[in-house]
Amino acid sequence: MELGGRVALVSGAASGIGLALARALLAQGARVALTDVRTDVLQGALEQLGATRQRALGVALDVAEPASWAEAVEQVSRALGPISLLFSNAGVNFVGPTHEATLEDWEFCLRVNLGGAILGVRTLVPRMIERGGGGHIVITASVSGLYASAGAGVYSTSKFALVGLAESLRADLASHGIGVSVLCPGPVKSQLFESTAAVRPAALAATGAVALLPPGVAREQTPIFTTALTPDEVARQVIEGIHRNELYILTHAEIRPVLEARAAALLTALPAEPVDPRRIEASAPLLDASLYRDARGD
Ligand code: NAI
Repeated sequence: MELGGRVALVSGAASGIGLALARALLAQGARVALTDVRTDVLQGALEQLGATRQRALGVALDVAEPASWAEAVEQVSRALGPISLLFSNAGVNFVGPTHEATLEDWEFCLRVNLGGAILGVRTLVPRMIERGGGGHIVITASVSGLYASAGAGVYSTSKFALVGLAESLRADLASHGIGVSVLCPGPVKSQLFESTAAVRPAALAATGAVALLPPGVAREQTPIFTTALTPDEVARQVIEGIHRNELYILTHAEIRPVLEARAAALLTALPAEPVDPRRIEASAPLLDASLYRDARGD
């Protein structure tokens, strides 16, 4: 897909992966709406774009609010033209035992991470289909959408759901010439913890979230952060993934043993007895694996 001349909307673009995606898209010649709920940080980001700033637009968007999506899409379409590239990237973190998360913790994380993507799809996809001309959607999930770990249950639930959303959407949109990719990064040098703290309602301060590190330990000094990928490296891989129409954009090869172990655990869990061939025939429409066979798109 040629990205030059197209209009992209990136959510969560004030910093980190979203900002890097916006920069990479601008470098490809796209017109880009950088959107975020932290409008002050977004303003600072826009000022750093240099010459490409003239093809960029900063727009306030709270992805958890339907009315905010409607307003933002209207504003972007009027200023830049019809949107054919959606980067559903805004997200918040949650750390703590799954069973200790309060209902409010669940609601906050799921409304932003999952609700934000659902609203983006609902607002934009019908417009993209109606206009024709194809397009591409990238949903930012995480490695936490591919396998689970202790202390990440709320976040992981939202990210697993995003993988299911992206896979289903890809199957639904293939006939419309709209590609769908799901981005599943491991650790990235970004502001996710700081931005989550900034947008997390104060009323949730006493709830189930726990600090990841002991007091006085700076996240920037931990091995996991110092060895993390940069947002620009992730964005470079996303642009390549769009060009190749990849279903999965996986940026961290070190997750291979975990993916292998999970796939093996699933296959091992299948009953060993032979299956009645009539049952296989009857469920043929439900056993279509072409989505996964075509995951690389080439
Ligand atoms: P970031 O903090 O730099 O970017 C996240 C952005 O989302 C922030 O600018 C924040 O203001 C925005 N945001 C939060 N709530 C919002 C809302 N209701 N409406 C609109 N914007 C909102 O962090 P990062 O890491 O770049 O995060 C981007 C995505 O990448 C997130 O979905 C995150 O879950 C995902 N991710 C991050 C990883 C990492 O190690 N940093 C690893 C895997 C996935």
